[in-house]
Amino acid sequence: MKTVIAPSILSADFARLGEEVRAVTAAGADWIHIDVMDGHFVPNLTIGPDVVKALRPHSDRVFDVHLMIAPADPYIEAFVTAGADIVTVHAEAGPHLDRSLQHIRGLGRRAGVALCPATPAEAVAHVLDRVDLVLVMTVNPGFGGQAFIPAMVEKIRRIRAMIGDRPIRLEVDGGITPESAVVVAEAGADVLVAGSAVFRGGPAAYEANIAAIREGAR
Ligand code: DX5
Ligand code: ZN
Repeated sequence: MKTVIAPSILSADFARLGEEVRAVTAAGADWIHIDVMDGHFVPNLTIGPDVVKALRPHSDRVFDVHLMIAPADPYIEAFVTAGADIVTVHAEAGPHLDRSLQHIRGLGRRAGVALCPATPAEAVAHVLDRVDLVLVMTVNPGFGGQAFIPAMVEKIRRIRAMIGDRPIRLEVDGGITPESAVVVAEAGADVLVAGSAVFRGGPAAYEANIAAIREGAR
């Protein structure tokens, strides 16, 4: 499968979000990664379904919605209605991960499961037939611009082996740069989320920033 580059709009200019989404789309983004935070599961607050809905007309790319909220279930349908193509929930966000994943697929969308750095790879072992994507957090969720955690490379490798020949995307998120892209791609990641490494330098730099990450992953 072709490696996907998914800019995280957490690092975009929030005062010009529609323009920013158009700019990264024109600059070669494959997916648009949207970070949803609740000030409870993670120590930060970001955006809700109305913002996703407002952004939908600005890009034809896959909207990859990363829910860092607990509970997630009461909000899944709202994000689907708003235009999410993929909805990812955290394994740590509640006791009924299997139910949440069935709920997403039941709404006709792709389902993802995310793991915080301290959560073992085995947490996804019994839901692999219910997911289209596994997201390995390579920083602690909550903020952009943090340093990549090297211990996650082994987890990526392990989950790649667990996935086997299933048609599941393996996504990494946090501290992805052209340099760390080399390591995570080699370990088996095929969707690379990047916030600060894409948005640094402003719109004139987006195309080169995305190309540099893509080149690292090759
Ligand atoms: C962190 C978010 C990430 C974040 C990545 O909680 O899930 O998507 O935006 O930002 P960078 O690429 O700057 O580490
Ligand atoms: Zn994210």
